[in-house]
Amino acid sequence: MGTALVATVAVAALHAVGAKQIHNFAGPWDAWLERADMCNANADDERIQVKFSHYNPNKKFVPQTWSGFANLSREMDDSWWVKAPLAIRSNNQWKENAFVFYFPTKGCSNGRDIAPACLKPFFTKAGTPCLIKQQVIQFRNTTMKLEFPKVPHLVYGHYRLELSAGPKNEKSEYCVNAIVHIIPKV
Ligand SMILES: *[C@@H]1O[C@H](CO)[C@@H](O)[C@H](O)[C@H]1NC(C)=O
Ligand SMILES: *[C@@H]1O[C@H](CO)[C@@H](O)[C@H](O)[C@H]1NC(C)=O
Repeated sequence: MGTALVATVAVAALHAVGAKQIHNFAGPWDAWLERADMCNANADDERIQVKFSHYNPNKKFVPQTWSGFANLSREMDDSWWVKAPLAIRSNNQWKENAFVFYFPTKGCSNGRDIAPACLKPFFTKAGTPCLIKQQVIQFRNTTMKLEFPKVPHLVYGHYRLELSAGPKNEKSEYCVNAIVHIIPKV
Protein backbone atom coordinates (compact mmCIF):
# COMPACT_ATOMS: atom_id res chain seq x y z
CA MET A 1 0.00 0.00 0.00
CA GLY A 2 1.35 3.45 -0.88
CA THR A 3 2.33 5.76 1.91
CA ALA A 4 -0.11 8.47 0.96
CA LEU A 5 -2.90 5.93 0.89
CA VAL A 6 -1.98 4.64 4.33
CA ALA A 7 -2.11 8.18 5.68
CA THR A 8 -5.46 8.88 4.06
CA VAL A 9 -6.89 5.66 5.44
CA ALA A 10 -5.45 6.51 8.85
CA VAL A 11 -7.10 9.92 8.91
CA ALA A 12 -10.41 8.45 7.74
CA ALA A 13 -10.17 5.70 10.38
CA LEU A 14 -9.42 8.18 13.12
CA HIS A 15 -12.48 10.18 12.18
CA ALA A 16 -14.58 7.04 12.24
CA VAL A 17 -13.25 5.83 15.60
CA GLY A 18 -12.88 9.11 17.39
CA ALA A 19 -15.50 11.38 15.93
CA LYS A 20 -17.36 11.57 19.23
CA GLN A 21 -14.45 11.95 21.62
CA ILE A 22 -11.96 13.84 19.50
CA HIS A 23 -13.07 17.31 18.55
CA ASN A 24 -10.11 17.85 16.34
CA PHE A 25 -9.93 18.73 12.73
CA ALA A 26 -7.74 17.42 9.98
CA GLY A 27 -6.00 19.59 7.48
CA PRO A 28 -2.66 20.87 6.23
CA TRP A 29 -0.27 20.53 9.13
CA ASP A 30 3.05 21.28 10.76
CA ALA A 31 4.66 19.20 13.46
CA TRP A 32 6.76 20.14 16.43
CA LEU A 33 8.60 17.73 18.68
CA GLU A 34 8.49 17.96 22.44
CA ARG A 35 10.83 15.07 23.20
CA ALA A 36 12.08 11.73 21.98
CA ASP A 37 13.54 8.85 23.95
CA MET A 38 14.64 5.34 23.18
CA CYS A 39 12.01 2.84 24.29
CA ASN A 40 14.72 0.69 25.91
CA ALA A 41 16.71 3.42 27.58
CA ASN A 42 16.56 1.43 30.83
CA ALA A 43 18.20 -1.47 29.04
CA ASP A 44 21.29 0.65 28.41
CA ASP A 45 20.33 1.31 24.82
CA GLU A 46 21.47 4.86 24.28
CA ARG A 47 22.04 4.80 20.57
CA ILE A 48 19.60 7.60 19.81
CA GLN A 49 19.91 10.78 21.88
CA VAL A 50 18.31 13.80 20.31
CA LYS A 51 17.04 16.98 21.94
CA PHE A 52 14.89 19.54 20.19
CA SER A 53 15.04 23.30 20.53
CA HIS A 54 12.24 24.95 22.46
CA TYR A 55 9.20 25.46 20.28
CA ASN A 56 8.00 29.05 20.28
CA PRO A 57 4.25 29.28 19.59
CA ASN A 58 4.71 32.96 18.70
CA LYS A 59 7.17 31.99 15.98
CA LYS A 60 5.49 28.99 14.48
CA PHE A 61 7.30 29.53 11.20
CA VAL A 62 10.74 28.97 12.77
CA PRO A 63 11.73 25.31 12.37
CA GLN A 64 13.16 23.57 15.43
CA THR A 65 16.78 22.59 15.62
CA TRP A 66 18.04 19.16 16.71
CA SER A 67 21.06 18.42 18.86
CA GLY A 68 22.52 15.02 19.63
CA PHE A 69 23.14 11.89 17.64
CA ALA A 70 21.64 8.76 16.17
CA ASN A 71 23.96 5.79 16.20
CA LEU A 72 22.53 3.59 13.47
CA SER A 73 24.55 0.53 14.35
CA ARG A 74 22.81 -1.80 11.93
CA GLU A 75 22.07 -1.00 8.31
CA MET A 76 18.44 -1.00 7.22
CA ASP A 77 17.15 -2.24 3.88
CA ASP A 78 13.84 -3.20 2.33
CA SER A 79 13.59 -6.48 4.21
CA TRP A 80 12.79 -4.37 7.29
CA TRP A 81 9.38 -3.66 8.77
CA VAL A 82 8.41 -0.31 10.29
CA LYS A 83 5.60 0.31 12.71
CA ALA A 84 4.39 3.64 14.09
CA PRO A 85 1.29 3.56 16.29
CA LEU A 86 0.11 6.98 17.42
CA ALA A 87 -1.79 7.61 20.62
CA ILE A 88 -3.71 10.89 20.77
CA ARG A 89 -4.31 12.92 23.93
CA SER A 90 -8.00 13.32 24.55
CA ASN A 91 -9.88 14.10 27.80
CA ASN A 92 -6.61 13.83 29.77
CA GLN A 93 -5.99 10.31 28.54
CA TRP A 94 -3.98 8.67 25.84
CA LYS A 95 -6.21 7.03 23.31
CA GLU A 96 -3.98 4.22 22.05
CA ASN A 97 -3.66 3.33 18.37
CA ALA A 98 -5.61 6.39 17.27
CA PHE A 99 -3.94 5.47 14.08
CA VAL A 100 -1.15 3.22 13.00
CA PHE A 101 1.35 3.44 10.21
CA TYR A 102 2.56 -0.08 9.51
CA PHE A 103 4.80 -1.29 6.72
CA PRO A 104 5.24 -5.07 7.10
CA THR A 105 8.04 -4.93 4.54
CA LYS A 106 9.89 -2.38 2.38
CA GLY A 107 10.40 -0.32 5.51
CA CYS A 108 13.35 1.50 3.98
CA SER A 109 11.58 2.49 0.74
CA ASN A 110 8.46 3.55 2.58
CA GLY A 111 10.55 5.59 4.99
CA ARG A 112 12.47 7.19 2.12
CA ASP A 113 9.22 7.99 0.38
CA ILE A 114 7.64 9.69 3.38
CA ALA A 115 10.76 11.29 4.94
CA PRO A 116 11.13 15.07 5.03
CA ALA A 117 13.85 16.49 2.78
CA CYS A 118 16.17 17.05 5.75
CA LEU A 119 16.30 13.28 6.41
CA LYS A 120 16.54 12.10 2.79
CA PRO A 121 20.35 12.38 2.66
CA PHE A 122 20.59 9.45 5.08
CA PHE A 123 18.90 7.14 2.57
CA THR A 124 20.28 5.98 -0.79
CA LYS A 125 18.87 7.99 -3.72
CA ALA A 126 15.29 7.39 -4.89
CA GLY A 127 15.26 4.94 -7.79
CA THR A 128 18.13 2.90 -6.35
CA PRO A 129 17.76 -0.02 -3.90
CA CYS A 130 16.92 1.51 -0.54
CA LEU A 131 19.50 1.41 2.21
CA ILE A 132 20.28 3.37 5.35
CA LYS A 133 23.84 2.47 5.97
CA GLN A 134 25.47 1.94 9.32
CA GLN A 135 26.51 5.39 10.53
CA VAL A 136 26.48 7.81 13.39
CA ILE A 137 24.45 10.88 12.48
CA GLN A 138 25.36 14.01 14.42
CA PHE A 139 22.94 16.86 14.97
CA ARG A 140 24.52 20.10 16.14
CA ASN A 141 21.73 22.60 16.56
CA THR A 142 20.78 21.48 13.05
CA THR A 143 17.70 23.11 11.53
CA MET A 144 15.19 20.38 10.70
CA LYS A 145 12.24 21.46 8.63
CA LEU A 146 9.67 18.71 9.06
CA GLU A 147 7.64 18.75 5.87
CA PHE A 148 5.90 15.64 4.58
CA PRO A 149 4.59 16.29 1.06
CA LYS A 150 3.27 12.71 0.83
CA VAL A 151 1.03 13.22 3.87
CA PRO A 152 -0.83 16.45 3.12
CA HIS A 153 -3.46 16.14 5.86
CA LEU A 154 -3.41 14.96 9.46
CA VAL A 155 -5.68 15.32 12.45
CA TYR A 156 -4.44 18.13 14.72
CA GLY A 157 -3.55 17.13 18.24
CA HIS A 158 -1.05 16.07 20.87
CA TYR A 159 0.39 12.67 20.05
CA ARG A 160 2.63 9.99 21.48
CA LEU A 161 4.40 8.16 18.70
CA GLU A 162 6.20 4.85 19.11
CA LEU A 163 8.36 4.37 16.06
CA SER A 164 10.00 0.97 15.78
CA ALA A 165 11.74 -0.94 13.02
CA GLY A 166 13.43 -4.27 12.64
CA PRO A 167 14.66 -6.84 10.13
CA LYS A 168 12.29 -9.46 8.75
CA ASN A 169 11.20 -12.00 11.39
CA GLU A 170 13.06 -10.16 14.14
CA LYS A 171 11.89 -7.94 16.94
CA SER A 172 12.61 -4.24 16.82
CA GLU A 173 16.21 -3.15 16.36
CA TYR A 174 15.32 0.50 16.92
CA CYS A 175 12.47 1.87 18.97
CA VAL A 176 11.88 5.53 19.79
CA ASN A 177 9.04 7.14 21.73
CA ALA A 178 8.28 10.72 20.81
CA ILE A 179 5.82 13.36 21.90
CA VAL A 180 4.67 15.22 18.82
CA HIS A 181 2.25 18.08 18.30
CA ILE A 182 0.39 18.35 15.01
CA ILE A 183 -0.83 21.91 14.42
CA PRO A 184 -2.46 23.76 11.54
CA LYS A 185 0.08 24.76 8.92
CA VAL A 186 1.34 28.31 9.25
C1 LIG B 1 27.04 2.59 18.30
O1 LIG B 1 26.34 1.47 18.84
C2 LIG B 1 27.08 0.27 18.80
C3 LIG B 1 26.15 -0.86 19.27
O2 LIG B 1 25.57 -0.56 20.50
C4 LIG B 1 28.34 0.41 19.66
O3 LIG B 1 29.08 -0.77 19.61
C5 LIG B 1 29.16 1.58 19.13
O4 LIG B 1 30.26 1.79 19.98
C6 LIG B 1 28.31 2.85 19.07
N1 LIG B 1 29.08 3.91 18.44
C7 LIG B 1 29.15 5.13 18.93
C8 LIG B 1 29.97 6.11 18.16
O5 LIG B 1 28.58 5.47 19.97
C1 LIG C 1 20.97 27.35 17.28
O1 LIG C 1 20.60 27.87 16.00
C2 LIG C 1 19.73 28.97 16.07
C3 LIG C 1 19.31 29.38 14.66
O2 LIG C 1 19.65 28.42 13.70
C4 LIG C 1 20.40 30.12 16.79
O3 LIG C 1 19.50 31.21 16.88
C5 LIG C 1 20.82 29.67 18.19
O4 LIG C 1 21.52 30.67 18.82
C6 LIG C 1 21.67 28.41 18.10
N1 LIG C 1 21.90 27.90 19.46
C7 LIG C 1 23.05 27.43 19.86
C8 LIG C 1 23.11 26.91 21.26
O5 LIG C 1 24.04 27.40 19.13
